[in-house]
Amino acid sequence: MTLKGLILSGGKGTRLYPLTYTRAKQLIPVANKPVLFRVIEAIRDAGVEEIGIVIGDTGPQVREAVGDGSQFGNVRITYIEQDAPAGLGHAVKISQEFLGNERFVMFLGDNVLQGGISELIKDFGNHPEWNGQIVLTPVREAQYYGVAKLRENGSIEYLVEKPADPPSNLALVGIYMFDPNIFKAVHSIKPSKRGELEITDAIQWLIENGYVVFPHVHRGWWIDTGKPHDMLDANGKVLDELVPVIKGYVDASSLVDDRVTIEEGAEVINSVIRGPAIIGKNSRIVNSFIGPFTSIYYNVVVENSELERCLVLEHCRISNVPVRIQDSLIGRYADVGVADSKPHAYKMVLGDYSQVRLLK
Ligand code: DAU
Repeated sequence: MTLKGLILSGGKGTRLYPLTYTRAKQLIPVANKPVLFRVIEAIRDAGVEEIGIVIGDTGPQVREAVGDGSQFGNVRITYIEQDAPAGLGHAVKISQEFLGNERFVMFLGDNVLQGGISELIKDFGNHPEWNGQIVLTPVREAQYYGVAKLRENGSIEYLVEKPADPPSNLALVGIYMFDPNIFKAVHSIKPSKRGELEITDAIQWLIENGYVVFPHVHRGWWIDTGKPHDMLDANGKVLDELVPVIKGYVDASSLVDDRVTIEEGAEVINSVIRGPAIIGKNSRIVNSFIGPFTSIYYNVVVENSELERCLVLEHCRISNVPVRIQDSLIGRYADVGVADSKPHAYKMVLGDYSQVRLLK
């Protein structure tokens, strides 16, 4: 039985400002690959070939990056335009024509899940009596997610979206499997307090109306890359699992750990790279230290500086910074350096919502 895939890549991405003022959050790279590409690959690796991608304001960027899907091998991409981010349930509603009468897997385009989804899809395929399958995982701050209350026998008692007082610590991971009954549900529910048609409410509707929704509890890691801190966490976790490859140039006076990837055209000169880390295409690292859990994307220059647990996006320049830069997300084309003219002062051009932490 073949399933279709639906990826949600609309929405606003406000929690990742300023990075997402100019860029779709799903296109921000984790370990030098956009999260959305990781999602497409996970769906493809589970044997799904027909994939619909829901896009919003940042649709043109997504279309440009993903194209017709041929770069991912055997997948065909259809774009589905959502005119406003009216909720995950709304995204399903407008995708009905694409999805037709088939069962499908839905994946939020900003989620990274350890181990892929092949087993989940196989399970769903083996249980034609399931009308839906959801994935749950224990989290610390359940109030920020959709939350499930399970019965002692493991079945779902109820689901609730972002409850002030969570009934459990089991959050809904952004991966769902449905049969066409979900369309009845999204047509029956009303917008939530935040004005969105919530997929959580639609699943709750299925449960209340006697449909079978199976909860799978995921035990590996899962990261919703919504906030800067989550982005750094996801980056570290994926880097940790990357198979290292050295394609670029490392000079004899540099020290590069085993768990480091150096992409094509990159150069490491008189520097130390401590893994897990990745240096992107055509980037240059000179007289510098790149510490663990750091990703440097493409066309970046780092000279006479030290970075640890950082995510540096394309075309940045970081030079002569006298103190180690740590736990930082640095957006595209950023230039970080020292002032070489008087007065002796901090000089900044910061985008809206930027955050800077200076030493006392
Ligand atoms: O990350 C898991 C959580 O995702 C679940 O626990 C929640 O139950 C679920 O509602 C969702 O909550 P968020 O508030 O984090 O969803 P967010 O608005 O970040 O949107 C998730 C993805 O879906 C994101 O890639 C943007 C896309 N999206 C979102 C909306 C609201 C759309 O494509 N269209 C939309 O209308």
